[in-house]
Amino acid sequence: MSDVFFSALEFAQQQVRRLIEKYPDYFPIYTKQGKWYHDGELWTDWTGGFLAGMMWRFYQLTRDRWWWDRAVHYSQLLEHRQHDRNVHDLGFIFLNTYLPWYRWTGDERLNQVLIQAGRTLALRYQPRGKYLCSFIGPQSLFIDIMMNVPLVFYAARQTNDEQLYRIAEQHCRTTRDRLVRADGSTAHEGLFNPDTGEFLGQSTHQGLAAGSVWARGLAWSLYGFSQVYELTGNEEFLEVARRNADYWIRHLPEDGVPYWDFCADLSQPPPWGAQKESSAGAIAAAGLLHLAGQDADAERCRRYRQTALHTLRTLCTPEYLANHTPDWEGILKHGVYHTAKNLGVDESVMWGEYFFVEALTRVVTEGEQNE
Ligand code: GLY
Repeated sequence: MSDVFFSALEFAQQQVRRLIEKYPDYFPIYTKQGKWYHDGELWTDWTGGFLAGMMWRFYQLTRDRWWWDRAVHYSQLLEHRQHDRNVHDLGFIFLNTYLPWYRWTGDERLNQVLIQAGRTLALRYQPRGKYLCSFIGPQSLFIDIMMNVPLVFYAARQTNDEQLYRIAEQHCRTTRDRLVRADGSTAHEGLFNPDTGEFLGQSTHQGLAAGSVWARGLAWSLYGFSQVYELTGNEEFLEVARRNADYWIRHLPEDGVPYWDFCADLSQPPPWGAQKESSAGAIAAAGLLHLAGQDADAERCRRYRQTALHTLRTLCTPEYLANHTPDWEGILKHGVYHTAKNLGVDESVMWGEYFFVEALTRVVTEGEQNE
């Protein structure tokens, strides 16, 4: 099986090399009919760290100087975002770029960029509702932010800033209490009165409905809480990651790749019905492998690894991997960005590419395939 994973990683390198040679210094978000370059709406600018992050993964895998130079260059193009107050995605941007770069070099200047980005993200904190608000506005909490809050923990740890740490911890508790349901499923968004902190209810932008289970949101939560458990050692966060993972595994289709929303009516056609979402599968596979490295329960870890490997195997078949689809510029087909806005539906999406590469890199470098 590792041959299949190695081949997929070869193909991923080929596709990224082609992309950056064809469109230098361009950070695409999703394809249109398989092509990265188009004038489609961005909704929000949050994915630069995934393209550069893949280059760091390719360097980790190959130790090829060519990838090192590209990774450094594309990371530098993102440096100004450390002060960006318009997005809640600074973790996505910096944890996949400046963090590996800092770990390879120990250059303190890079660490300062990470710390600044964590402080900038913490400025989104709403003291009454006790959460980091989404780019939509002060009233809005997104499940996605669970993947970004590790950057605030990081900055707090590096600077011994107790207040920063409490902000990150509170954000996780509010997310758990308002967005994660008792059965382990998640809502995409929570709405609050920012003046009083009163919780007004669950909502969605990218899922089917306020009360539904948007597949990518659940994957963000699972992986985010797993990382926060690693960073804090706090069992209350492990419990949430486990609950998310249990829901995920219980409801996953037989091939290991979810539909875009776990509540979608599968008797209906795409995009609102039976539309697969490969990026959610890739994120969850990476998250389950991470959680398997954190949880002390051997039986659970075995289940997490098996599910992750099953999903990755399916994603490596020609149905998902674009290696037999002529002229398709992405790596993974059948991802979805935003159904309601009709952006990147049944296309390649940059975060799907990144987490697929991350999960496969983990598998081939840590020998997970032996499980
Ligand atoms: N807004 C982040 C996502 O599409 O998952």
